[in-house]
Amino acid sequence: MMKDSYVSRYRREGMRVNRNVYNRQGALIIPAFTLLSSKEIDLLEHLRIGLDDEDVEPGAVVELVDSAIREIKLTFEKIRHSDRIPYDDIRRSILPKVVQISEQTDLKPIFIYLEQHDDYTYKHSIGVAMLARMIGNANGLDGEELQELMLAGLLHDVGKTKVSPFVLNKPDKLTADEFEQIKRHTVYGYELIAGTRGISRRQALAALQHHEREDGSGYPNGRKSKDIDPYSKMIAVADVFHAMISKRVYKEAVPFHKALQALSELAYGSLDPTITLRFVKQIMDLAIGNRVVLSNGLEGKIILVSPDAPAQPLVEVNGTYIDLSKEHTIGLERII
Ligand SMILES: [Fe+2]
Repeated sequence: MMKDSYVSRYRREGMRVNRNVYNRQGALIIPAFTLLSSKEIDLLEHLRIGLDDEDVEPGAVVELVDSAIREIKLTFEKIRHSDRIPYDDIRRSILPKVVQISEQTDLKPIFIYLEQHDDYTYKHSIGVAMLARMIGNANGLDGEELQELMLAGLLHDVGKTKVSPFVLNKPDKLTADEFEQIKRHTVYGYELIAGTRGISRRQALAALQHHEREDGSGYPNGRKSKDIDPYSKMIAVADVFHAMISKRVYKEAVPFHKALQALSELAYGSLDPTITLRFVKQIMDLAIGNRVVLSNGLEGKIILVSPDAPAQPLVEVNGTYIDLSKEHTIGLERII
């Protein structure tokens, strides 16, 4: 599957270019060993410079993603048969890979690459663990706590190993009974984790509570804000965001920055506002100075990201400033 995917121009994202790439005038535009992100791909397209299959190879990070997915898949399969979580193996082997993947400066191409894998549960576990690291970081966790949260992210859906794959992968609308079966993955996950030596209670709670919502609209117990553990709230944000940027049988993937906008809108209803907005701000801060296209077609540059409305930054357009948090008719269409 992976080999074929190299053929598509769009799927070169996350690949590493293995030679210097020059424009027609001979100026270097992409140095060898650059990991290709949408920025480089847009540039190549703009200059009409094609790359052949021999010009790109899986970046080291791509190999790490493949190996982390393989391992989490094997681990979940083992858990399905044994009802035991090999926690030490996960901590010693899978976690360091996810940490290394998350240390890349531009995670967008990595999330896009993750998308190419077939099985949602496994890529979702890796994606949620990566996002948990960012969310934990943005909310002041470090060291042991951050690792604990990432492991909670890797295992938040482990209870799905106890749900029928037929129900889990059903493309059609679920019956009420099937939805009840899916909801039970939270309780199954809690039981599996709580019965494992070395895993903290908060990690078990993250499996139990990651579908609970601030306003009490979640499951399995309809708990409200003050009765939900902060780790569970962070995993909920990671879970919702990764679901948004993923393609599923019933929906297309939402572009990264549009998902950030949609996530911010949930910050005053179902998700914890502080945790959510700090995360959105951390990502948007990385886009300061980037060119953007607005919904009215104008191009500008991100100047400032505010903590209260981080998904709607201050943008400079031809010398004038547009505060997107106040201009309700103009939105961010694309970050270049
Ligand atoms: Fe879940």
